[in-house]
Amino acid sequence: MVRTLVTGATGTLGTALRPRLTAAGHAVRAASRSPPEETEEDIEWVEFNVLEDTGIESALENIDVVIHTATAPQGDTAAVDVQGTKRLLEVAEEASIENFIYPSIVGIDDIPFSYYKHKATAETAVEESNVPVTIVRATQFHSFVAEMLGYVAKLPVWPLPTKMQIQPIDVGEVADIIVDYTTLEASGRIGPIGGPQIHSVGELAQAYRDSRGHRRPIIRLPIPSKTVAAFRTGHAICPDHMIGTVTWEEWLANRYTSGADETDPRVQSPI
Ligand SMILES: NC(=O)c1ccc[n+]([C@@H]2O[C@H](COP(=O)([O-])OP(=O)(O)OC[C@H]3O[C@@H](n4cnc5c(N)ncnc54)[C@H](OP(=O)(O)O)[C@@H]3O)[C@@H](O)[C@H]2O)c1
Repeated sequence: MVRTLVTGATGTLGTALRPRLTAAGHAVRAASRSPPEETEEDIEWVEFNVLEDTGIESALENIDVVIHTATAPQGDTAAVDVQGTKRLLEVAEEASIENFIYPSIVGIDDIPFSYYKHKATAETAVEESNVPVTIVRATQFHSFVAEMLGYVAKLPVWPLPTKMQIQPIDVGEVADIIVDYTTLEASGRIGPIGGPQIHSVGELAQAYRDSRGHRRPIIRLPIPSKTVAAFRTGHAICPDHMIGTVTWEEWLANRYTSGADETDPRVQSPI
């Protein structure tokens, strides 16, 4: 049985990974700054904070594989994503971790968004470490795009950088692929994982608006930003790697018939 630690286990990807890993026969340890009181019975929760450097050694004790999904898009990204990842790698090396899996984001080298710059620095630290690693870049999750659009949802008019290109993917499909790579042998950098379709933000917003039953006009907001320009020219997409199968429309139909709330104030937007 592979003993697998998931950091950031309460997050979007961590939450999708937990049941898939246990179903695949892993002994799962889940790390969080505040482990939930009630959760799956077959998961061992541990307290862990990379910002305060607490619980790292004990979290990695008797572990074979680490999936490091902890991240801080809001707040002190340099400390959490860069310094925290470096600290975790040090401990992973001492603990002889066999496979350190690092989820990352398509296009981070070419998009000058501060969170992405920190992700790129952390990814380089992962790649250059002495720990065997697997790096998995994915495009934006559907839930993330919905969160972004949730910010304008209440406005009478939706001003958006409509030409940005995005290839959203279902987080469950990303988790399925990561579980396949959660083995005792690291795979290095694997090919990027993108969703099944490329959309402009205008198209994504129209489908989102329709699925929510709104009629608000969407207007193009020209934002003179290098980040927006990089998304517009397609740096965040991977057209040759349309791996996911769940479309934006299918995801919306599923999400908004279940009545879930897409608004998550933790998320910092590059849009
Ligand atoms: N979201 C996307 O669209 C997307 C797309 C491609 C790749 N990715 C990558 O996938 C990974 C996971 O992203 P996500 O969207 O699932 O993230 P998320 O939902 O924001 O979850 C991140 C988790 O990190 C934990 N965390 C934050 N600060 C921490 C700290 N100081 N110490 C320990 N844990 C801390 C939090 O858990 P607790 O509060 O429980 O501690 C949080 O639940 C990231 O590397 C991200 O870059 C995301």
